[in-house]
Amino acid sequence: MFSNRTPSSLTPNRLTLALEAVRAAGRPFIDLTESNPTRAGFDYPPDLLASLGHPRGLTYTPSPFGTIEARRAVAADYARRGLDVAPERIVLTTSTSEAYGLLFKLLADPGDEVLVPRPSYPLFDHLTRLDVVSTRSYELEYHGAWSIDMASVERAVTGRSRAVLVVSPNNPTGSFVRPDELDRLAAICQDRDLALIADEVFADYELTPGAPASAGRMLDRRDTLVFSLGGLSKSVGLPQVKLGWIAAAGPDRIVEAALDRLELLCDTYLSVSTPVQLAAAELLARGAMVRSQVARRVAANSRRLREQARSVPACHVLTSEGGWYAVLQVPSLDSEEDLVVNLLQANGVLVHPGYFFDFPRESYLIVSLLVREDLFADGIGRVLRHVDCPAAR
Ligand SMILES: Cc1ncc(COP(=O)(O)O)c(C=O)c1O
Repeated sequence: MFSNRTPSSLTPNRLTLALEAVRAAGRPFIDLTESNPTRAGFDYPPDLLASLGHPRGLTYTPSPFGTIEARRAVAADYARRGLDVAPERIVLTTSTSEAYGLLFKLLADPGDEVLVPRPSYPLFDHLTRLDVVSTRSYELEYHGAWSIDMASVERAVTGRSRAVLVVSPNNPTGSFVRPDELDRLAAICQDRDLALIADEVFADYELTPGAPASAGRMLDRRDTLVFSLGGLSKSVGLPQVKLGWIAAAGPDRIVEAALDRLELLCDTYLSVSTPVQLAAAELLARGAMVRSQVARRVAANSRRLREQARSVPACHVLTSEGGWYAVLQVPSLDSEEDLVVNLLQANGVLVHPGYFFDFPRESYLIVSLLVREDLFADGIGRVLRHVDCPAAR
């Protein structure tokens, strides 16, 4: 009866089952996977969402890409990051996930392919599948720092490829796309008529000083079609408000053709609410105080993690330049799945296994840097003790 866009089996994995059991038993645990900023103890001014109640929101003025005022506010936010994009080239969406869906519909027919980095954001599997698009992976390599294996990008391209996806900084590796990597990706895209989709939702969050400023500048491209994705969810810690955006760059003729088609797509759904468009400028401006708290927290936890791990030679913290996550490499004495289930059941700490993010081999653990500092230090202490004393398990 059902399409293959959703998986045939919806059976939860072992970690989810173990987590349900721990919750059902009322056993406390430290959640080092917490990615929801609104549950991480940040100080949100109680009236931060007051602008959503603007009386102009009582009148519905549908517009496919969103109101020009809201699109100007997003353009001003890019300008804050030193990027120049015309408001006319900004398309509002409810989220980055919706933006991916729109771009897949714009670029790909059923069975077409997009290239995705590995390791990376687990939602790509679902997002592509829902639009009947296939993924082909290219590799990110670690050698003290992350870089894109360009030969693997070349190998992944086929006659059905339509786009190359990059996440900068990437979730969970924290790697920004470097300018030389961007030049090479842009050349591949231009050569093969592919679009470059750049997810920059974490671009504000610096873990290695200076990393965002020296990253590749997606929206400066004039040689190939580029879409940069962003949203309030990460930039000001307001995922529940549901406002994201696509900014387009590239050769004028192609950008205009892409926008003409995107307009038709957006006009079909008209999904972004009027109140959030009216509030966009104020949310972007006042949300800076949330962003600065998040930025301080993730940087402090990243430093703390390195200090704590220094005394545990069995655990190596991979270099991370930006974003909200850290990756720990640990010995493969158990499978990753056994390890994360044991950490939860025996040590009361929840972390994600690397295989959720498609790491090509074991063993890696992924932790969120959003967690309150004291809980983070306690949770990391538990993880480190566990991997340091296998005999004690
Ligand atoms: C790389 C990446 N892109 C996009 C998102 C989701 O953003 P949104 O809430 O705007 O859909 C996430 C959420 O974790 C993410 O990690």
